Amino acid sequence: MAIIISFINLKGGVGKTTTAVAVAEMLSGVFDRKVLVIDLDPQTNATLMLIGEEKWENLNENHHTIAQLFLDAIYPNYSKFNLKKTLQHQVSNVRDLINLDLLPSSLDLINIQDRLGTISTGRFYAANPINILRRGIKSIIDQYDYILIDCPPNLGIVTLNGLRISHGYIIPTIPDILSTYGIPQITKTLGDFSETIAETIHPLGIVISQYHPGMSLHDRVIKDLRRYSKDARVFETQIPHKQQIAEAVEFDHPNKFTTLRQKWGYGGQFEKYLNLTKEIRIAASQVLKSK
Ligand SMILES: Nc1ncnc2c1ncn2[C@@H]1O[C@H](COP(=O)(O)OP(=O)(O)O)[C@@H](O)[C@H]1O
Ligand SMILES: [Mg+2]
Repeated sequence: MAIIISFINLKGGVGKTTTAVAVAEMLSGVFDRKVLVIDLDPQTNATLMLIGEEKWENLNENHHTIAQLFLDAIYPNYSKFNLKKTLQHQVSNVRDLINLDLLPSSLDLINIQDRLGTISTGRFYAANPINILRRGIKSIIDQYDYILIDCPPNLGIVTLNGLRISHGYIIPTIPDILSTYGIPQITKTLGDFSETIAETIHPLGIVISQYHPGMSLHDRVIKDLRRYSKDARVFETQIPHKQQIAEAVEFDHPNKFTTLRQKWGYGGQFEKYLNLTKEIRIAASQVLKSK
């Protein structure tokens, strides 16, 4: 059974995509799991990181993105979504990764988001605009050990589609005031959402990202988060702010990456993402056991 985890924060630029992709690569490359990344963000950053711009443009022109799945729900008579052609295998700019797949995103998701609220929920229409993703990928879920969902920075219908199928969610954040401000709102809203759909979506934890060691503001915010965050604990591993992490996201990096260690960097970053992934695996397995 696939463990499904969403990466969410209402703030952009806090490391959601980088963390989701790094963890997906660790699960696949180090832990030898079968992993699927679903990119639900119209900014398509996870998609660009994992398949590059050229391939993405080609898929997008041919409607082979997750946006088409949602468009089909709005215009059911023109169904075009083709799961097999949309699903990309062996993605990532690390040569040795073989068990990482991607459902790519599209800029078109921005417009679709607004229209989803207006679709018919008539008796025979499989009911609900938050179940579109679930129905669309049902047939492949069991092929994976982990499915990681990169969410846009909002709690709109597209995001709720991802959360709907998730066992848990992770909140990446920069340890500063504005990036952490919305965290109680996320845990509260998702607690309410869990109740509405009668299925628990567990807060697995908060990931400290882009951390500047020695910056007193960061240390203070982390201390407060660890002390006062009731609904979501803070993972022990803190991801530092490092140039090599920002560079690793480039798909066509001039030095082609052979290994994950080479990609994420020898200055301890590889170990940080590895340790974070270990923590996430433990948190996720505890959640599944409680089911
Ligand atoms: N640990 C890090 N050190 C340095 N730069 C980082 C780190 N994590 C992310 N970045 C960079 O910060 C920017 C925002 O990160 P990203 O993962 O895209 O955030 P989000 O998905 O929340 O918008 C990107 O340019 C990314 O390359
Ligand atoms: Mg992002």
